[in-house]
Amino acid sequence: MKVLVTGMAGFIGSTLAARLARDGLEVVGVDNLNDYYDVSLKKARLARLEKLQNVRFVRLDLADREGVDRLFADERFDRVVHLAAQAGVRYSLTHPHAYVDANLVGHLNVLEGCRHQQVEHLLYASSSSVYGMNQVVPFATRDNVDHPVSLYAATKKANELMAHTYSHLYGLPTTGLRFFTVYGPWGRPDMAMFLFTKAILEGRPIDVYNHGEMSRDFTYVDDIVEGIVRLLEVVPSADPDAGVVDDSPDRSSAPYALYNIGHGSPVGLMDFIHAIEAALGRKAEYNFLPMQPGDVPRTWADTTALYRATGYQPRIGVEEGAARFVDWYRSYHGIVA
Ligand SMILES: NC(=O)c1ccc[n+]([C@@H]2O[C@H](COP(=O)([O-])OP(=O)(O)OC[C@H]3O[C@@H](n4cnc5c(N)ncnc54)[C@H](O)[C@@H]3O)[C@@H](O)[C@H]2O)c1
Repeated sequence: MKVLVTGMAGFIGSTLAARLARDGLEVVGVDNLNDYYDVSLKKARLARLEKLQNVRFVRLDLADREGVDRLFADERFDRVVHLAAQAGVRYSLTHPHAYVDANLVGHLNVLEGCRHQQVEHLLYASSSSVYGMNQVVPFATRDNVDHPVSLYAATKKANELMAHTYSHLYGLPTTGLRFFTVYGPWGRPDMAMFLFTKAILEGRPIDVYNHGEMSRDFTYVDDIVEGIVRLLEVVPSADPDAGVVDDSPDRSSAPYALYNIGHGSPVGLMDFIHAIEAALGRKAEYNFLPMQPGDVPRTWADTTALYRATGYQPRIGVEEGAARFVDWYRSYHGIVA
């Protein structure tokens, strides 16, 4: 099976590509290597993949319509896992256009490529941020998600709507993956675990938003990857009765599916910080701050649908996950414990 992984130089994309290649699939990865964060980390992730047999990398911006058309026509992918995006909630307040270019134009170009080349299954990254102002937890895919609180979230919700249209009009099987706060080795420098670890090791205080009164369904990257690998095989089919008997947002007569991929249990921000402190063997100095615009106080994934479809329930808790991250962080930066 030949699989396209977009965003392959990214955190989740590089971890997924390594797993798929080890499983014996032929992997082609694209990425534009943008400088949203340290490009040398993206290059180091790619260098790691170069050692594997069946992975190839193509540098391409998904907003380049002709380039994407050509890639799909030349390569003839069986399946596509589309993870490239402008990520980050806070950055979307200051750089909105980056989200439109990567997440809307890029997503459309991928949909068009899949449609014209009859790709068997498109899986794409959505986000827990689509739940926006929702109060009822755990968050379930049958809930309405019409109240995003950041442009980032709005583009992810738009991705789901665009995918639904292509599933309906062209019979393209699509699966949207709502990831919940992903962390782990090779993680993103703009995210909490990386920022906290770096600051603690450098003896600087850490910024703790909403005075620590937040919780997240933190999900270890290998659990995310296992969910994607299993869902790659769960190709949605058309369901002529859906929408008639039940107008739940995650059901449709089109070959369209949505899943939460999250650990399934929320962890308080202070407990998360304590897990990092324990892994580092050092206490942090806290700089308590108010809530940031665009942020939500809590997330919590209902993972029943994922379990029903794949038999998989994410496993790794934050203590173990933080320890694995810190091991990686130290070895990547050559820091002796
Ligand atoms: N990490 C999380 O906690 C999390 C949570 C929810 C959803 N997601 C989503 O999962 C996906 C992967 O996230 P990640 O954490 O690996 O982020 P990441 O930033 O590490 O990876 C995304 C990659 O996409 C590339 N990219 C961006 N715009 C591109 C374009 N126009 N053309 C080609 N490549 C482009 C970037 O260079 C980057 O390497 C994203 O869609 C993100 O929105 C991530």
